[in-house]
Amino acid sequence: MGWYREHVVPRLVDVACGTKNTVASRERVCDGLSGDVVEIGFGSGLNTPYYPPAVRSVAAVEPADLAWRLAQPRVQASPVPIRRVGLDGEALPLADGSVDAALSTWTMCTIPHLDAALAELRRVLRPGGTLHFVEHGLAPDASVRRWQRRLEPVQKRVAGGCHLTREIVGSITAAGFTLAAVDSFYDDGVPRFFAALSLGVAVSPGPVSGP
Ligand SMILES: C[S@@+](CC[C@H](N)C(=O)[O-])C[C@H]1O[C@@H](n2cnc3c(N)ncnc32)[C@H](O)[C@@H]1O
Repeated sequence: MGWYREHVVPRLVDVACGTKNTVASRERVCDGLSGDVVEIGFGSGLNTPYYPPAVRSVAAVEPADLAWRLAQPRVQASPVPIRRVGLDGEALPLADGSVDAALSTWTMCTIPHLDAALAELRRVLRPGGTLHFVEHGLAPDASVRRWQRRLEPVQKRVAGGCHLTREIVGSITAAGFTLAAVDSFYDDGVPRFFAALSLGVAVSPGPVSGP
């Protein structure tokens, strides 16, 4: 991890993702979480105030040490036990079928190999376990998409590898999840190239069986 990504991006993310317009989406996406949860791209812990009481534990996966340090006041204040179990959503140090739910917020844009991370989530979720997500991605409108394609190279450099044009819902279903609910909308108060959100819940059929 380079100096900029290690020392600057986590602070930028803490501010940019901590604005009050994200609160309603965080509340919505955390609704219904229960049991043992894995959160990929934990960042500075901005979802912790919205974990429902039914959450028993959270296994946090976050590569940036600074983000984990920034998260500490929120981690300590949370009634839910939270431990950092790993650094990479593409290689989760969790047993097959060992978690009840997974949470990903504004993270699938950044993980280098999203298909690998989704396969890992499917592996660690019990059959019927749920993936709760709110993510930005490819916009529905052609004019916004044009800007997204123009700006993506800059965005990737400035924002730690963040892609603007990923088809998040298509990637989730391609990984074998079934959508239980999805809402796609533009987030208010954010430039549209960054504001095309998909918020939903997808159900895992369990790990892929066989060789
Ligand atoms: C835009 S931030 C979102 C942070 C947090 N989820 C939130 O909602 O505030 C993306 C996060 O994904 C993390 N990340 C990047 N690559 C990752 C990977 N391979 N596995 C897990 N997390 C990753 C980054 O360090 C960063 O904390």
